[in-house]
Amino acid sequence: MKIIMLGAPGAGKGTQAKMIADKYHIPHISTGDIFRANLKAGTELGMKAKEYMDQGLLVPDALTCDLVMDRIGQDDCKDGFVLDGFPRTIPQAEALDAALSNINQKMDYAIDVDVPDENIVNRMSGRRACLNCGATYHIVSIPTKVEGVCDRCGNPVVLRDDDQPETVQKRLAVYHEQTQPLIDYYKGQGILNTVSGTQPMEDVFQAIVEILGA
Ligand code: AP5
Repeated sequence: MKIIMLGAPGAGKGTQAKMIADKYHIPHISTGDIFRANLKAGTELGMKAKEYMDQGLLVPDALTCDLVMDRIGQDDCKDGFVLDGFPRTIPQAEALDAALSNINQKMDYAIDVDVPDENIVNRMSGRRACLNCGATYHIVSIPTKVEGVCDRCGNPVVLRDDDQPETVQKRLAVYHEQTQPLIDYYKGQGILNTVSGTQPMEDVFQAIVEILGA
């Protein structure tokens, strides 16, 4: 089962992708997490990506596509995967289609988690992320058991640099300009499904399971 999660920044793609990965036993591949892990490890890729991420801009396709193609070619992806944050531009989607077509495969589902812009800024200002293990929380809807400490690994949880309100506005503008066209792209392929992301996260997940099948 090969799945793409679409949606604005903060729509809940990552939250749902992790739940899908757990239920269907497929890898969760988040380009944002890969860039943040590289930054933490001090790699050249991480440093380059940070220049764009901190401004709310997309990392260039040239740095992103090979990384994902390499990842989905690994053994653990042979029964499927859930992509979170990729593709984000039409050229990225075309590169993905071309890579899969070379091995006679195609994506099965694109799931758009739909949340209006006005809900997004609130969500992002309350999000807290663990930069060590990638777990995400929300100070109101999913608080950590101990304030400021990751439930999973015990490291501090923080407001991501790109979750500052002015950067969130920029990310939203970039989303509408460069990523939203993918909704029509996947509608054209007949694999687009839309779920409302303003429901409680268990209900969003239930709607996704109904699309994917139990
Ligand atoms: P990335 O990390 O992918 O960020 P994003 O797409 O902006 O998405 P987010 O992680 O911010 O949000 P999400 O939709 O996963 O929401 P979440 O589940 O956390 O990318 C960061 C940057 O990396 C980009 O800006 C770009 O620079 C670069 N990048 C990454 N991929 C790239 C690519 N392919 N090409 C170029 N550049 C790329 O939820 C958000 C909050 O809401 C959380 O606190 C959560 O707990 C809460 N929440 C979730 N669901 C619900 C619900 N149903 N109700 C209430 N609260 C909820």
